Amino acid sequence: MRTQIIGLIQDVLPKYDNVKEGGHGKDHIIDVIEKSYNMAIEFNENPEVCCVAALFHDIGLLTNSRAVHHIASAIYVLEHAKFLKRYFKEDEIYKIYSAVLEHRSGYNGEYTSMISKIVSDADRSTNIYKMISRSYDYNKSKGYDEDKIYNEVYTHLKEKYYERRYKFLSSELQKELNDAREILKNEEEFKRYYKEITSCK
Ligand SMILES: [Fe+2]
Repeated sequence: MRTQIIGLIQDVLPKYDNVKEGGHGKDHIIDVIEKSYNMAIEFNENPEVCCVAALFHDIGLLTNSRAVHHIASAIYVLEHAKFLKRYFKEDEIYKIYSAVLEHRSGYNGEYTSMISKIVSDADRSTNIYKMISRSYDYNKSKGYDEDKIYNEVYTHLKEKYYERRYKFLSSELQKELNDAREILKNEEEFKRYYKEITSCK
């Protein structure tokens, strides 16, 4: 990875401190960048393009709601295309733009490139600890009381991950998700994880 790209990541990351919605701050972006990097290496894609797409994927949350943040993030990339030309070729910037636009879990279209698939995979929580932690932070930031937070977290995670068919590129992520699904099926077991994770909040 070129030092300029590492510098770019270091420059942009602090902006995420201003994201109000819990679960979408700097820690999440670092996690998505790391996972994107690992998948880029595993699947022989350009790690710099993957990491910069991961870096910008939620930037639209600084100015827009969750419902439209992917569009705002993509516009941000377009607005900074001239700047990004210092580091990337035009087709690479287009892949970054597309990956940012297509990263949402509700996206049903074809992915423009493998970069989109990688960032979309990386953005999904597969680990039960991260799932609970992010969902808890999100609901906490809405000002709910602890009982409501628990109900929201369990209902949301069950709906989101329990039934849905989604195939990950990485068998490691797929296995992690399958393990999390087993925990979600059993509320008593889920509660044990929930208590452990939220007790250190
Ligand atoms: Fe994200």
